[in-house]
Amino acid sequence: MSKVFVFDHPLIQHKLTYIRDKSTGTKEFRELVDEVAGLMAFEITRDLPLKDVTVETPVGQANSKLIAGKKLGLVPILRAGLGMVDGILRMIPAAKVGHVGLYRDPETLKPVEYYVKLPTDVEEREFIVIDPMLATGGSAVEAINSLKKRGAKSIKLMCLVAAPEGVEIVKEEHPDVDIYLAALDEKLNEKGYIVPGLGDAGDRLFGTK
Ligand code: PRP
Ligand code: URA
Repeated sequence: MSKVFVFDHPLIQHKLTYIRDKSTGTKEFRELVDEVAGLMAFEITRDLPLKDVTVETPVGQANSKLIAGKKLGLVPILRAGLGMVDGILRMIPAAKVGHVGLYRDPETLKPVEYYVKLPTDVEEREFIVIDPMLATGGSAVEAINSLKKRGAKSIKLMCLVAAPEGVEIVKEEHPDVDIYLAALDEKLNEKGYIVPGLGDAGDRLFGTK
């Protein structure tokens, strides 16, 4: 069964308040999403396995650690997931980046896939699927389907804000995928927007309407 983690770190919660605020403009919104993504990457990598190494310092030999285990892959769901990539890459610069392009049909709210490009060594990587919003969950479920269809074995999902409906559907469809959030909100409205949420993440990031 998927585990759900809501990061309660004060810096994440503080910045999320400004991200939610409707008076925050595009430039500041983009910067804040980038910063929070980096802080979430710091938390999400807490359980990465380490291996023992020795290193020569200018003064002697130190017993030290390096990250071991699978290499990481980030998969932003286009468009809005793009806003979180650079913040995560600052923490995990060696990660490869795949892309899954999906948009939510405004009438049916069902995801429509228009682009997929993943690193070639899909089976060997641990993937983090990234999207600021987990609303009905359709986009996340479809993006994870897309990765699994191409051979991905290990996947985590990282979102800023989720609705309970989205969390439940991901848990049902992909019980092997753990979910990492900055906030779990109250509900969806009749248009499939997260309440209170932060509005349309893609539009706020890219200044569109
Ligand atoms: C938004 C958001 C998610 C999706 C979440 O994307 O970035 O991908 O909606 O909704 P869901 O959980 O109900 O599927 P949108 O479809 O607006 O596309 P965009 O990022 O290109 O604006
Ligand atoms: N997509 C968004 O960008 N915001 C929502 O609240 C729901 C879906």
